[in-house]
Amino acid sequence: MIKKDIKKYNVCLTYGTFDMFHFGHLSILLRCKEKCNKLIVGVATDDYNKNKQKESIQSQQQRFNFIKNLHFVDKVIYEHNFNIQWANDYKKYRAEAIFIGDDHKGELDYLIEDGINLIYLDRTKGISTSDIKKKIKQKNIFFLIQNKLDQTEELFQNIKKINLNKDNFLVLAINKKIETSFQLYQFWNSNKKIDFIFLFNNTQEVNQMKKRINLLKINNLIN
Ligand code: CTP
Repeated sequence: MIKKDIKKYNVCLTYGTFDMFHFGHLSILLRCKEKCNKLIVGVATDDYNKNKQKESIQSQQQRFNFIKNLHFVDKVIYEHNFNIQWANDYKKYRAEAIFIGDDHKGELDYLIEDGINLIYLDRTKGISTSDIKKKIKQKNIFFLIQNKLDQTEELFQNIKKINLNKDNFLVLAINKKIETSFQLYQFWNSNKKIDFIFLFNNTQEVNQMKKRINLLKINNLIN
């Protein structure tokens, strides 16, 4: 008989911007899901980010859709603020824990005093969206596009073949019609060459991302 996986919690929450989805994002979300049956992810809105003087490369809708597409995420909501919303969401969804990366350690302890089971998880070292934005400026960008589901194996082979040295950077664009598969995340777990992944609906969106990356590069030249 197959033993059913017993998770520590039923419903859990976690929040973030998740701009230019990188391995640190994947890792923390997988670790959250290991601990609960139902994982709800709050994606920061563009307005909320603006209030924090943070500007993302991808719109809130693109970031939301990416998280929604992850097979192990059960529900996605928008995060408009944290001070009121987190406590409200905790009650509303009958959550048993809120997970957050330990870059915020200590800052949010007042939530613990309010009875929220706030759990800090280790951040993946040496990677962040801010870091990607900086790195992109100095590196050669490889753009791989996956348009069809049956290209998955071929794609993995191509990634393995790419000789990524410290001057190169790999962006993977996946057609939204393809459910980002379990296989892809297993592959990413064992092969860290991909720097970030995004979903696209049409070629216009791929071009838009290329343009944004180029703008980051040009701005660096001007500065
Ligand atoms: N996170 C992580 N490991 C990383 C980067 C992020 O565990 N290397 C976690 C954060 O602690 C947070 C969630 O992922 O719980 C979403 O983080 P977000 O702020 O969207 O990503 P960052 O890469 O930290 O973005 P930035 O550099 O713009 O702050």
